[in-house]
Amino acid sequence: MKKSRIGVLTGGGDCAGLNPALKWVVKTAMDERLEWERGVRYEVMGIRDGWKGLANVDPATWDTAGHIVPLNPDAVRTWDRYGGTMLGTSRFSPYDPKNECSRLVVENIERLGLEAVIAIGGDGTLAIATRLSREGVNAIGIPKTIDKDLPETDYTLGYETALNVIVEEVDRLRTTAGSHRRIFVVETMGRTAGWLALEGGEACGAYIILIPECDFSMDKVNELVSEGRRSGTRYEIIVVAEGAKPIGGTEVVKKEGVDSFGRKALGGIGEFVAHEIEKGTKLETRSVTLSHLQRGGAPCAYDRRMGRYFGIAAVDLVVNNKYGNMVCVRNGKISYCSLEHIYGKLNLVDAATQYDADRYNGRRTILNNGKKKNARRIQPHKK
Ligand code: F6P
Repeated sequence: MKKSRIGVLTGGGDCAGLNPALKWVVKTAMDERLEWERGVRYEVMGIRDGWKGLANVDPATWDTAGHIVPLNPDAVRTWDRYGGTMLGTSRFSPYDPKNECSRLVVENIERLGLEAVIAIGGDGTLAIATRLSREGVNAIGIPKTIDKDLPETDYTLGYETALNVIVEEVDRLRTTAGSHRRIFVVETMGRTAGWLALEGGEACGAYIILIPECDFSMDKVNELVSEGRRSGTRYEIIVVAEGAKPIGGTEVVKKEGVDSFGRKALGGIGEFVAHEIEKGTKLETRSVTLSHLQRGGAPCAYDRRMGRYFGIAAVDLVVNNKYGNMVCVRNGKISYCSLEHIYGKLNLVDAATQYDADRYNGRRTILNNGKKKNARRIQPHKK
């Protein structure tokens, strides 16, 4: 019987849905039926802390506790109920000039006898998978990120759970906002893609939604808020993505510099908007940053299911030697695409069709975003 060893890791920011994917990679690869049908017995090695585990492991000593952990169906039986990642994660890049160890990572993959490496991650983690793939590693990607900004897939693990957090927290804020007649500005994650703010805002019925794909005017925000009050609203919920910025301004950052994936630490736009509203309208305004709450907690049903389907699909690619691909979902169908096709690309909101730039809100397709040519399409009813 042929034996084969698969490595699996989680990289980048954690989120709900990683553990279900890990569980189903292990359960599928080690399913006896696969062994009978294909004549291959798979072993699965969990790599700790993302790509860092492969840089730090010493294959000679098999430092299992620190960097590599053998997995089996029994060990992962309950993992799909839990948030975060049981393997740990990091934003470590072997291509970061500070680390400069991609050769070592490739060699360690060989020394550990890993026929394939399944990387569960967002753009940063999968960019590394793509580059290692070019160096001869048999890499497979599984998409995850609460930002939902990976191209070629309709879903990335963690997104629905994060949306549920936004809705839940805004529901809580509504009662206190209403009691005090206050405005609440809720800052969500979403660096360059505004999906979380847009679809979270749509789901919770936000009065204003601000996204990175459409720079906003503070005067217009204040005008919309005042208009609401004139029409009798008691309070407003405004959802803003961390990467949103005013026209002519720049993103607000928590601290200077970038991490190993080359990303700025964003944060603070919610507070800026709240301050400007209070200054411009004299209405009491508070801000809440949801931050890592969106990444925490148990996976919702959808993330458990998608983690399962993606995990199974990733092993399917390994079994069929279809390396250099990422599993994905398109129009409800689980499929795959080349890692090269997603490299350096992002899936952004199309502000012209998926956003109401007139009202700074979610899409209202029948209004066609106030574009003149269709504005008179529906004629008023004549008596
Ligand atoms: O990559 C997803 C993300 O949630 C971004 O929206 C956010 O800017 C970032 O992670 C923050 O991550 P961390 O605090 O872990 O660096």
